[in-house]
Amino acid sequence: MRIAVFAGDGIGPEVTHEAVRVLEALDLPGLELVEGDVGAAAWRKHGHPLPPETLDIARSAGAILFGAVGDFECDNLERHLRPEQAILGLRKELTLFANLRPARVFEGLEDLTSLKPEVARTIDLLIVRELNGDVYFGEKGMRTLPDGRREGYDLMSYAEDEVRRISHVGFRAAMGSRKKLCSVDKANVLETSQLWRDVVLEVAKEYPEVELSHMYVDNAAMQLVKNPGQFDVIVTGNIFGDILSDLASMCVGSIGLLASASLGEGTFGLYEPIHGSAPDIAGKGLANPMATILSAAMMLRHSFAREADARRIEDAVAKALADGVKGGDLGGNAGTREIGDAVLERL
Ligand code: NAD
Ligand code: IPM
Ligand code: MN
Repeated sequence: MRIAVFAGDGIGPEVTHEAVRVLEALDLPGLELVEGDVGAAAWRKHGHPLPPETLDIARSAGAILFGAVGDFECDNLERHLRPEQAILGLRKELTLFANLRPARVFEGLEDLTSLKPEVARTIDLLIVRELNGDVYFGEKGMRTLPDGRREGYDLMSYAEDEVRRISHVGFRAAMGSRKKLCSVDKANVLETSQLWRDVVLEVAKEYPEVELSHMYVDNAAMQLVKNPGQFDVIVTGNIFGDILSDLASMCVGSIGLLASASLGEGTFGLYEPIHGSAPDIAGKGLANPMATILSAAMMLRHSFAREADARRIEDAVAKALADGVKGGDLGGNAGTREIGDAVLERL
């Protein structure tokens, strides 16, 4: 059980530290943790946000625990040197194309979300976000038009095999859940989305038990706030999934609660909170580490087939929340370390 730990920037190291303490507290056979540099931290040390030695560590491990990357001081670097390229590069290099982002309301938090409690109470959904394609990885650039105006461009595209493989992930997830899949696109405007919808419909024939629906992304954003309980599994492209998952986080109370797993065809995976480096609170011990701790649970489940240990972690987090352990993100005053301690006590 060799785990690459890439803590990164801002609150990344703070939240990762707590997740590592949780992993170490479990009796995991052969647990080995190997640290590597990513993001602005790696750029400062090695001149690159994802140095080759970090990729080597990733390839030598069974899974990656990732904190966060991003540093405003790097916002003017050439794009390939920016911290965010570390996470984008890992996802792409390691063909981690399927990002699972579960969102459910924890007991005791019903009154603390951005929704009315009776609406929040109904949320139990999974966003399956494609990670290797879309406008993220198309041709992009800045150019000057003949009349002298500057233009920025990013090509949005999906190839059918990319849509097919993520569709299967969505359908399989729905089969293991309440058998409802909602594919979110913008097929009324985008050819990329028309192909997406066509391929999802083809794949649907292999899953007759799954109730499939399609929704435009603008409506999906609205429905997630109006009636989130209607969703079981959502499958969507890279950029729509990015945006909808931050939205879903506030429906359950805080972005500090949303974990994720990025998977490919095998058991190897990268596990990270959906939030970023939170420069506004970095270094203050204020970040909520629960999203990262829950990501470690997803790692035990998906990469190491240790469902019971994953449940232990999830139950400990749920218990801590039910007992009123809350960080500033949830209106409480527990710090990062204190939240980590509270979860450990309940393990
Ligand atoms: P962010 O997620 O870092 O922060 C948004 C807001 O949520 C901030 O107010 C922050 O304080 C709060 N927040 C985030 N995580 C929290 C936690 N665990 N506990 C309490 N509060 C938390 O998003 P941003 O401000 O748009 O981006 C900051 C940097 O992070 C940027 O450089 C961005 O590119 C990067 N980023 C990285 C990742 C990643 O590494 N996967 C994800 C998102 C953003
Ligand atoms: C996320 C982040 C990343 C994304 C950024 C940092 C590249 O927002 O993981 O949600 O857009 O995928
Ligand atoms: Mn995001």
